[in-house]
Amino acid sequence: MNFEEKLTETVALLQRIAADFSPAIFANSFGAEDMVITHLLAKHQVAIDVFSLDTGRLPAETYTLMQEVAAAYPSHPIQVYFPNTASVEQYVNQNGINAFYDSVELRKACCHVRKIEPLQRALKNRKAWVTGLRREQSPTRTDLGYQEFDTGNGLEKFNPLIEWTEKEVWAYIRAENIPYNKLHDQRVPSIGCAPCTRPIAMGEDVRAGRWWWENPENKECGLHAKKI
Ligand code: ADX
Ligand code: SF4
Repeated sequence: MNFEEKLTETVALLQRIAADFSPAIFANSFGAEDMVITHLLAKHQVAIDVFSLDTGRLPAETYTLMQEVAAAYPSHPIQVYFPNTASVEQYVNQNGINAFYDSVELRKACCHVRKIEPLQRALKNRKAWVTGLRREQSPTRTDLGYQEFDTGNGLEKFNPLIEWTEKEVWAYIRAENIPYNKLHDQRVPSIGCAPCTRPIAMGEDVRAGRWWWENPENKECGLHAKKI
């Protein structure tokens, strides 16, 4: 399939989600893939809402982009979800502000408080959610498809860019002049929270800079975990 065909299929899928799975919502982390989806939703006026999880620990560049996106795509305002105040206070007071470096358990607990619980609120009463996942991104994502039932959250999940390559994502961003996170210009292909993201070296896996102190097999925060 050439790129034009892939693009047409991606737009058709987004339109099908809006038609058949309303109300649907797109999870926007402001990474390169998510900027492509944001742009497509606005360009083709697809009726899918958008949310973002603000963990409270995002890099400054992400907040700059968030502001830019709000101005550039007024048809798709972003609903921001924050962590529960009492839960963050309890985690930090009990474990420390940067406790995620101490163990996989404490890292996952931080992700739970700052991402998973807010995600569950964001997905409430929705028929489907949309992500920017790509198969190429990680060994944990190689068996993903366009559509799957998210058993953990109890709704349909769509990954419209699953087959896109990194090169295609960037060619489209350049061709359409889509705003993007400036950290991508500093060898950070995958961006999450500031303390858990660093630049990668030449030849490293695109997600090597996420939770770099952990094994690749552990490197999911739980947003995309499968319940067995
Ligand atoms: S993560 O699970 O390791 O954090 P990654 O950063 O690769 O995920 O992003 C994969 C997809 O998850 C994004 O394309 C987006 O759909 C969703 N996502 C990740 N982080 C967020 C966030 N903070 N807010 C909303 N969606 C997010
Ligand atoms: Fe906490 Fe790091 Fe997970 Fe962000 S990525 S929620 S700071 S452990």
